[in-house]
Amino acid sequence: METLFSGIQPSGIPTIGNYIGALKQFVDIQDDYDCYFCIVDQHAITVPQDKLALRKNIRSLAALYLASGIDPDKATLFIQSEVPAHAQAGWMLTSISTIGELERMTQYKDKAKDRKEGIPAGLLTYPPLMAADILLYGTKIVPVGDDQKQHLELTRDLAERFNARYNDIFTIPEVRMPKVGGRVMSLQEPTKKMSKSDSNTKGFISLLDPPATVAKKIKSAITDSEGVVRFDTENKPGISNLLTIYSIFSGETIEALEAKYAGKGYGDFKGDLAEVVADFITQFQEKYQYYMDSEELDTILDRGAEKASFKANKMLKKMENAMGLGRKRK
Ligand code: TYM
Repeated sequence: METLFSGIQPSGIPTIGNYIGALKQFVDIQDDYDCYFCIVDQHAITVPQDKLALRKNIRSLAALYLASGIDPDKATLFIQSEVPAHAQAGWMLTSISTIGELERMTQYKDKAKDRKEGIPAGLLTYPPLMAADILLYGTKIVPVGDDQKQHLELTRDLAERFNARYNDIFTIPEVRMPKVGGRVMSLQEPTKKMSKSDSNTKGFISLLDPPATVAKKIKSAITDSEGVVRFDTENKPGISNLLTIYSIFSGETIEALEAKYAGKGYGDFKGDLAEVVADFITQFQEKYQYYMDSEELDTILDRGAEKASFKANKMLKKMENAMGLGRKRK
């Protein structure tokens, strides 16, 4: 069975964008691969985090993975900082990365421009740590949203560079993106990605928003003045984004939805969508609460860290041997 790896940062509460672009994809394919799902807390600290909030978000993200339907008997769910091989391998891959290629990452450029008190070096060396996450497991498939494509290309470059320079030990991973919803947009600025760290909270729907808030946010989403429910990302980014969200949560195709709302206004469309998403969120949060209250969560994470460490440490040894680190005993 081929290996699949993906990760989410515990840097806030995930949004329906994270659900559509990542979590839902994970659940849809978890039976087909040997899956590793990671809570990447070491990536989260590349920008300042409040320590109590971070602890809370890590646990909460574990419960969100499970509430989405990740089956811990099939997939390995674990916290990055509990498997030290990630940071160790990350350092080795940082050493073969160039400043130029790291500075070209659009996420680095976006995040660096917002930092007023100096740019943390970790923001620049974020991608080789992500490459380590992936390469340590001999990963073939990486399901992610659209915004991670460039990081995946760099991961492939680093793997090929390491294989050519030292020893052919890494599998070259492939990116997998959802057919619909690879880039869910902000509800307030539909030409911008929906992000859990947006300062305008009306722009995103968090998976833990109360259902009434969800409905309100959908009803106040920015649309256009044409009054026709039609998918056209260029001229109607707001409505197209809402159609994508509707399609994912209802299981109906975008064409079927366009037909259903032909001749109707945005009010009906938004009202029905608000109901569909609020219903999903209500059920989702019941499952989430179950895991948050259960001791099972710690057992699952302990088991996950143990299983991940076992596999990651084997690859770490191979990397050290390939690079000549440490020593060979007499
Ligand atoms: P993060 O935590 O920003 O996002 C987690 C996942 O959600 C996807 N995503 C979206 N998909 C659709 N629409 C959106 N608006 C949207 N916003 C986020 C992301 O593409 C991602 O799949 N660098 C990664 C975390 C990471 C990782 C890894 C991922 C660290 N190591 C190894 C895969 C493999 C990140 O910041 O994701």
